[in-house]
Amino acid sequence: MVQIRVEKAKIDQKQTSLLVIGVFEGERDFSQSKELDPSVLTYIKEALENKDFRGTFGSSMVAYTLGKGPMKKIMLLGLGKREKFTDEMARICAGKAAHRAKELGTKEFSILQFSNLDEGLVEAMTEGIALALYTFDKYKAQDKESVRVEEVTILINSDSPRFSMIAERASHVADAVNFARDLGNLPPNDCPPAYLASVALSLAADYGMKTRVIDRYELENMNMGGIVAVGKGSNNPPKLIILEYNGAPVSDAKPYLLIGKAVTFDAGGISLKPSEKMDEMKFDKCGGCNVLAILRAVASLKLAVNVIGIVPAVENMPSSTAYKPADIVRMYNGKTVEVLNTDAEGRMILADALAYGIATYNPKAVIDMATLTGAAIIALGANVAALVGNNKQLTDRVRRMAEKAGERVWDLPLYDEFHEQIKSPYADIKNIGGRPGGAITAAAFLSNFVNGVPWVHMDIAGTAWTQDGTYERSYNPKGATGFGIRTLLKLLGEEEKPSSQGLQQPQQLQQQQ
Ligand code: BES
Ligand code: ZN
Ligand code: ZN
Repeated sequence: MVQIRVEKAKIDQKQTSLLVIGVFEGERDFSQSKELDPSVLTYIKEALENKDFRGTFGSSMVAYTLGKGPMKKIMLLGLGKREKFTDEMARICAGKAAHRAKELGTKEFSILQFSNLDEGLVEAMTEGIALALYTFDKYKAQDKESVRVEEVTILINSDSPRFSMIAERASHVADAVNFARDLGNLPPNDCPPAYLASVALSLAADYGMKTRVIDRYELENMNMGGIVAVGKGSNNPPKLIILEYNGAPVSDAKPYLLIGKAVTFDAGGISLKPSEKMDEMKFDKCGGCNVLAILRAVASLKLAVNVIGIVPAVENMPSSTAYKPADIVRMYNGKTVEVLNTDAEGRMILADALAYGIATYNPKAVIDMATLTGAAIIALGANVAALVGNNKQLTDRVRRMAEKAGERVWDLPLYDEFHEQIKSPYADIKNIGGRPGGAITAAAFLSNFVNGVPWVHMDIAGTAWTQDGTYERSYNPKGATGFGIRTLLKLLGEEEKPSSQGLQQPQQLQQQQ
């Protein structure tokens, strides 16, 4: 794991094997690096004058300093047009620099702050580097990386400890994202529900959290009909995994409840999926992996909030014991569901987890993350997650946090009419609502299990892993992305400061409307 620190820049003294200097397109003023040796500066100016290097976004050029100065090499890194530069671009550029440094076999490098110093910039640069250097090479004998980048220094023009803290925090967040990626990328043969449960148990032991894993027979006794039904088709039994973190100053403060879908493999069950791209359904556990990672980060950052994480984990397989279309299942909250498609399994397991979590923990707000519908990808593409909720304030807050975190989300409306589509002639509701508005009808289904508590559902089907239509971003290597973790950690981190943005209860909201 790479160590990233910030340091007040003394370029003429910084011993480093590579100094990365960001250059905006069309700019030639090097005031920020005027301490460079004059001959190195001349070299850079020549390169710019002769247009060997133009500073276009993502371009780079490496040169040896030949003993002129304490750094062995410099890298010019194109930042694109200054007026278009954002924190997200800083994240991408820092990631590109890290990739290039890795290609060069560099174990350690330094990077100058790209633009005016602020917290967002330091956070984005730290995240970009730590996230871009992620690789999943557990199963590779040969090309395991021999040289890894181990140490990076971000050189800034301030010695305020605030920025060190920001970089440290961002490193923890990136670690959590990479942890979720490691789990998400695991093949389904090595990651059945019991494996995720064992991960939760070790997290609990390592970070002093409470945990509980509910097994198949206990799930049956507790009437978690949805989780039991989906789990029935597999020899790998279902698990309901619970992690509890208590960090609020008032220890009995109402917790946030996070719920993550973990279908360790979604074959579709009896409503079997086509074989093309079925392999991608190992990523159907990413919502759950994200929740485990968030609890890990919340505990390692010692955030002053109470958080409960619940991960219903199942494998959705066709077999003679599998649940079937036409089955009617009684869920934890007593509602009955007519199963018309066994591939709409995510909502079946989330429903029980939501109802159980809300009844048991009386949370102030609930957020679920799930690779729930292909329809969310049809609606918003592979780079934007869908939000659907029952509380505008909470949804707005998630959207604001996502914007700050550089993750794209957009909300879809949960109008009453959508409930019509999931009415069943035989049971309280059915588990599919037809093609129109499929991401919303899935959420309408879930809303039957949240009992009026402020709730937001994040459909991360398009964003949980890199797939057709995913934009290339240096900090998102192929595979699981950990999308959503940064947003929710921002939301939980902000809770530390009591502010006017505290959540209103539904009654207050109703009065306002
Ligand atoms: N895990 C899938 C959703 C999914 C599909 C996520 C493709 C990412 C990429 C989910 O369990 C599912 O199969 N949903 C069905 C629902 C349908 C049967 C109503 C879908 O989206 O087709
Ligand atoms: Zn499915
Ligand atoms: Zn699924």
